[in-house]
Amino acid sequence: MDIYLEKSLDRSKMSDLTSLGLKKGQLYETIVVTKNSDGSPNAAPMGLIVKSIQEVVFYFYPGSRTAENVKKDGIFTVNILEDSLTFVECTLGSPPSSYFQKDGDLFHLKSADAYFTARVVKEKVGPRKDRFGSTELTIIQALVEDVIKCVECVHPLNRAIYGIIEALVNLTRMEMADQETRNVYLSRLPEISRLVNRVGGLEDKEALDMIRKKYDDYR
Ligand SMILES: Cc1cc2nc3c(=O)[nH]c(=O)nc-3n(C[C@H](O)[C@H](O)[C@H](O)COP(=O)(O)O)c2cc1C
Repeated sequence: MDIYLEKSLDRSKMSDLTSLGLKKGQLYETIVVTKNSDGSPNAAPMGLIVKSIQEVVFYFYPGSRTAENVKKDGIFTVNILEDSLTFVECTLGSPPSSYFQKDGDLFHLKSADAYFTARVVKEKVGPRKDRFGSTELTIIQALVEDVIKCVECVHPLNRAIYGIIEALVNLTRMEMADQETRNVYLSRLPEISRLVNRVGGLEDKEALDMIRKKYDDYR
């Protein structure tokens, strides 16, 4: 049964990700809230991969305070929201304490549409090669514990849809555009394809294939 409650009201608990619309194998953008050694909260956007409805994986870059806090405490909250300002504030620094709500020993964001507590079950540090070169990453596998829904409809952020919408909007402008503008649109497609292939699901890839075929008419 789907249980939801108004933000900041009392809450009920579930213990898997089904009710949040998170799909196995996909990558979502969340905000991870941890506790610093002085007891204050820290928030930072982090991508998560859904390993199963009860397990998630994070890849932390070197120098991340979140990574340090997660390794220290072994437990944290994963906040799901779509609010752009909160994402920016949590990237440029940690927001003020008024943004957070205490939940037992842990903090979560007051503006979260949903959040869950995650407990570290495996921790690994190792190099990963990407387009920036080789980086030493901390890989955290965590078990989903309490899942709390604060609004009825939760929309976990997956970046594929934004790429697809951009590519689609540009497609609808091709007829009006001169060749120079068309070339600008065409030049954006490889980056959008890279993104969709990396973070999208099968449907996203199928959608992008349809768009790509239409783009070929304008080359
Ligand atoms: C949408 C988004 C997703 C991000 N995902 C990750 C990630 O998966 N791993 C990571 O180490 N940093 C990621 N970052 C970058 C961190 O959020 C950023 O470096 C932040 O300042 C780290 O804060 P911290 O030192 O408090 O952990 C992401 C940033 C954004 C905007």
